[in-house]
Order: sequence, then structure tokens, then C-alpha cells
Amino acid sequence: MSVEIAAISNSLPAFLSQNSYLQIAVLVDEQTSKHCLPLIQAYLPKSFIKIQIKSGENNKHLATCEKVWEAMTKANMDRHGLLINLGGGVIGDLGGFCASTYKRGIDFIQIPTTLLAQVDASVGGKLGVDFQGLKNHIGVFNLPKTVLIDPTFIQTLPASQKLSGYAEIIKHCLIRDAEKWEQISHTDFSEVDFSSLIEHSVEIKKAVVAEDPTEKGLRKILNWGHTLGHAVETFLLDQGKRKILHGEAIAVGMIMEAFVAFQRGLISEQELGDIEIYLFETYGKVPLKASEIPAIIALTLQDKKNKGGEVRFSLLTGIGDCGYDIPVSKSEMKKAIEYYIG
Ligand code: GLY
Repeated sequence: MSVEIAAISNSLPAFLSQNSYLQIAVLVDEQTSKHCLPLIQAYLPKSFIKIQIKSGENNKHLATCEKVWEAMTKANMDRHGLLINLGGGVIGDLGGFCASTYKRGIDFIQIPTTLLAQVDASVGGKLGVDFQGLKNHIGVFNLPKTVLIDPTFIQTLPASQKLSGYAEIIKHCLIRDAEKWEQISHTDFSEVDFSSLIEHSVEIKKAVVAEDPTEKGLRKILNWGHTLGHAVETFLLDQGKRKILHGEAIAVGMIMEAFVAFQRGLISEQELGDIEIYLFETYGKVPLKASEIPAIIALTLQDKKNKGGEVRFSLLTGIGDCGYDIPVSKSEMKKAIEYYIG
């Protein structure tokens, strides 16, 4: 899996000169069209095809894919073309899915422009769209030709977007690197050195994905915090009125799932406390009501790690260590959500 962390002014021309594509399309949304396309346009052939979709998770569905396939068809793109996905997780996941299915698959590369996409979504070839309110329900595993990460892209992101990506960085430390967790858990969010943490996260993710590209086993640890986190995210997004960013929801999920690990004696009270204090300090508390618990638990039944109707979690088995395929009961989930609500 090729991932380059470098100035885009070096990495993109180098990639394009090593690969001769006759047709190049660039997928953007209104944000990346305005802020990021100007940064790469000089390295593209004048004839490049711009395909623009609307930003936001609520556009990550099959109807948007149809628009992308339609634009590629209209431009007579053949199988030897390249799709460049310039954007955050929605652009990368949806664009990669469109490229992987267009004429049974054309090459694509990811140029992630958000912290979340740089440290997680762009690496590892998980592609797809949401379906009937379920996140990433339809999709494929397929690796891009390369991922070009330019850490300067995130400099102008609003703090909320950086916070969202930071949750995945915290996750990577907690499941694979206790020393790094110790370091960041004593660092205020405003002091974080993102460049070095992007590299650290990408290394962890690459190593795990290399061992298990299609999530038959080990890769499931990358979903720590996501079983309850996704359920909370989906529940709140379905409400319409209560917006939550992915990373905020994962921060909620990490506290809840750390509590399950504590209840099982897998981590100590002190370790749970450290996780909880840092995540509450960094993300605050998402207001949830006890009456919402059954609906949140019901959503965990759709988790992609489940087997035979059993909800299976990835759980910390220590700081820097994580197990997977661990069945967790509804009553454990209920206690964990109650613990979060306080
Ligand atoms: N975001 C988790 C994974 O890529 O496996």
C-alpha cells in the first residue's frame, strides 16, 4: 500500500509522471473545489475533468454515485483513466467506490484534505456509501494506486474538523502504542503537533491493514470505539436536529467501550479514568438521555463486525493493546451508556 506524506507539489507531479494517464478526472465538493483544487491544478493536464458533488455525509449515497458515473460516462472515460479524490472521507469513500465499479474498475488515488481522512479514511481501501441510514453499508475493499497526504492541507481546517480527526489519532495510540498515549494524554489539544501524529497514525494503520486487508481478524481493532460510537452517531444523525461529527461520536464510543473493558477487568480503574478525563476535557460531553439507550443499542445490531446475530466488539485488553470478536451483551452496553450519561 503506497502512502506518501509530502508536499503535494512534489508528490502529485512525481506520481503523474510515473504513470501515464490519458484521462484524469478530479472529484471535489464545493469546499475542496474552492480551497484545494487551486493547489493541485498546476500539476494536472489542462483537459482534466472536474466532477463536483455536494459536501456532507448526507450526500454519501447511491444517488450521488450515479452523478459521478454519469459525469465519467459523459466524458467518455475509458478503463485507462484516473480518478483523483480530492477531499475528506465522503469524497474518498464515495469516489473510490465509484472508481472501483465504473467499467468494473479504474485507477484512483486519494488526496485527503481533512485530518480524519489523512489519519484514517484514506488509508486501507475501505470504500462505499451509506444506505437507508446505515453507515458505509454498501461498499468494497479496494486499494487506491496511492494516497498523497500533505499535512499543510489541514492548517486551515476549523478546530471542530481537527478535533474530529484527532479522535482517530487517540484511538490508534490506545490500541497500539501505550507510550504515545501517555504522551498525548498529557498534551492539551491546542498544543498537538499534527504533522508527527499524522505520520504515527498512518504507520499504525498501514501495519494493521497490511496484516489483514479485508478485516477477517486483526483489522477489527481499528474499529475500537466504533460499535457504540457509530450507533450514537447514526442515532443522532437520524434525529436531524442533533449534529455530531464522526470523531466526537467515536470519543463517546471510546469512553463507553473502555468502560466495558474495565467491567471485564481488562483495564484498571485508573486507566479508564485517564481515558475518560482526557476525552471529556477534549470533546466535552454529548447529551444523551436514558430513554434513548434502547434505540442506540438496537443500532449496534447492524455493526459490520457482528456474527450470527451476536454483537461483537473490539475491546482494549490493556493500554496499547486491543482484542476483537468479543461478544458483548445488551446489558453490558446499557451499563456502559448509563455510565457515560452519568
Ligand atoms: N476505519 C477503520 C478501518 O479502516 O479499518
